[in-house]
Amino acid sequence: MTFGPYAIMASGTGTNAMALIKMGKACEVAPSFILVTNEGSPLREVAKEEGIPFYHEKSRVKGVDISLEEKILDLVDHYKVKWLFLAGFLKILSPSFLKVFNEGHSQSQVINIHPSLLPLYPGLGGYKKAFTNKDEKFGHSIHHVTEELDAGPLISQVSLNRIEGESFEDMVERAKQSENENYAHILKSFIRGNL
Ligand code: GRF
Repeated sequence: MTFGPYAIMASGTGTNAMALIKMGKACEVAPSFILVTNEGSPLREVAKEEGIPFYHEKSRVKGVDISLEEKILDLVDHYKVKWLFLAGFLKILSPSFLKVFNEGHSQSQVINIHPSLLPLYPGLGGYKKAFTNKDEKFGHSIHHVTEELDAGPLISQVSLNRIEGESFEDMVERAKQSENENYAHILKSFIRGNL
C-alpha cells in the first residue's frame, strides 16, 4: 500500500490524535487536516500551534450523519487526502462514504483504533467490559475500517495483563498509554512504507 496525505478525525479527549500529530511531526509528514465533532476539543489549540488546518463539525443526528460525511468528503477532496486515521471518532461512517473514499484501493484506507482485543467486544465500552469480566488480558486493536462495525482486517493488537486489585481508572490509563504509543508507531510504519 502506498502511503499518502492523511487526516485525523476525533471526538474525545484526543490523546491518540495528539500522539499521531507528534509522530507526524517527528517524521515531517503532518496531517492535512484535523476534524473533531466535539465542543471544546484540546486539539484546536494543538492544531493552531502546529499550523494544521482544524475543523469542528457538530453532528446533530444519531448514527450515520450524511451531511457530516459530505463535509468530510469535501475536505478530503480539497486536501487530496488518501488516508483517514480515526482517533476516538464516534460517528459510524456509512458504506457509501467508505466506498467513495476507498475507490480504487484494494484495502480500506480508513484506519481505526478500538479499545478491545477484537473480535472481542466490538462497539462501545471495551475496557469496561474487560474490567467487569475480570479478563486476564485486555488491550486495543488497530484495523482497517470496513462496513461491518469494528470487524475490518487487523493491523496490530497490543494485549496487556490484568493486575489483580488494579482500579478501572488505572487500568484505562495503562491501556490508553499503550494505545497512544502503538497508534503513533503504526503511523510511522505507514509513513516509512513498512505497512
Ligand atoms: C480510545 O480508547 C480509542 O481506542 C477509542 O476511543 C478512545 C479515544 O481516546 N476508539 P482519545 O480521545 O484518543 O484519548
